[in-house]
Amino acid sequence: MTTSPLDDLADQTQQLLSNIAALATIDDLRENEAAITGRRSVLSTLQKSLGVLAPEDRKDAGARLQEARRVVEGALEDRRQELRALARVEVLAHDRLDLGDVVVSAVQWPASVGHPNLVAITQRELEDVFVAMGFTVAEGPEVESDWYNFEALNIPPAHPARGMWDTFYVDLGEPETVVLRTHTSPTQIHLMEAAVAENALPIHSVMPGRCYRRDTPDPRHLATFHQIEGLVIDRGIAFADLAGVIETFTRAYFGPDIESRLRPGYFPFTEPSAEFEVTCTICRGEGCRTCSHTGWIELGGCGVVDPAVLAAVGIDSDEWSGFAFGFGIDRCAQMRHEIADMRALIENDVRFLEQFS
Ligand code: DAH
Repeated sequence: MTTSPLDDLADQTQQLLSNIAALATIDDLRENEAAITGRRSVLSTLQKSLGVLAPEDRKDAGARLQEARRVVEGALEDRRQELRALARVEVLAHDRLDLGDVVVSAVQWPASVGHPNLVAITQRELEDVFVAMGFTVAEGPEVESDWYNFEALNIPPAHPARGMWDTFYVDLGEPETVVLRTHTSPTQIHLMEAAVAENALPIHSVMPGRCYRRDTPDPRHLATFHQIEGLVIDRGIAFADLAGVIETFTRAYFGPDIESRLRPGYFPFTEPSAEFEVTCTICRGEGCRTCSHTGWIELGGCGVVDPAVLAAVGIDSDEWSGFAFGFGIDRCAQMRHEIADMRALIENDVRFLEQFS
C-alpha cells in the first residue's frame, strides 16, 4: 500500500486548529503565526512534499491541502479578531475611572430640572386672572417706532410728558425714531389698528411683556421690567367699568388682605387718569424703605381712553369708548411675595429663586 504525505492531514489540521484555539493573546498569535501558516509551517512542508506523488494523484492531493490551508487560515483570522476584541476590552477596563461613591452622591434622582422664574410665573397668574374675567391675551414688539410708543398715545414730539419715560433709543433710521418700548401701551395701538382693519371691535385684551427704561435700579425699579397692559374698547364703557375690573383683579390676585386704591393721576393717553396703588406689604402700610415711607406702592396707571388716541387709530369715539390700564408685573410679584428689594429678581441667587417654584 502506497503511503501519501497527506495521510495524516486530517489529524494535522485538527492539531493546528487546537493550537490556534489555545492562543491566549494577540502577542501569542503573532509569535506563532509563522509556525502555523508560514513558509516553515507543517502546511508548507506538506505542500513541498507533494512532488513525490505520482502526477495523477497530485491534483487531488493539492486540492485537499488547499482546503486544509483555507480552514486553518480562516480559524487563525477568526482567532485574531477575537483576541483583538479581548485586548480592547482589557484596555477599556484598565483605563476606566472608578468614580464609585462620587457618582452616587453627585447625581441625585430625580434630577433637579429648574423651573420658571418668579416673573414668568407671575405673568401667567395675572393672565389667568384676566382670562377668567373674559379678556384675551395679546403680545406686541419690544422695539417700537416713536409713533407707537409715544405719538399715537397722544404724546407728540417734545411734549413735556415724554419726561415721564427715560427712553433707550435704538440706533436705526433717523435719530430718536426707534425705541425700546418704555411701556406696553404701544401694544394697545397695534391691537386697535388690527381691530379696525379687520372690523373686529370690541376689544377686551391684556398684553403682557418686557419694557425698558433708562432708570437706575433701586428697591422698586429695574431698567428691564415687565408690564401687563389692559384695553377694553366697547360701546358705553365708563370709568366705573374700569374701577370694577381693578377691584375684581385685586381681590383675585392679592386676596382680601391687601388694600388697594385709585388716586387721580395724569397720563396723556387717558382722561380721566388714575394711579393704582396697594398697601405696601413689606411694612403693612407703616412706611419703610421699599415704599419710600408712604405706606403705598404704585402698581400702575389706568384711565378712560382719550378720544385723541381713538382718533389716531381711526376709531369713532362717538360710537366706541374704553378704558385702559398698565401694571408692573415685577411690582405685582414683589408685593404679593413681600420682596423688599426688586433687584433680587435679577440677581439669580438660587436660594432666592428656589422659593418660587
Ligand atoms: N403706560 C403707563 C406707564 O407705563 C401706565 C399706564 C397708565 C397704562 C394709564 C395705561 C393707562 O394703559 O391707561 O407709565
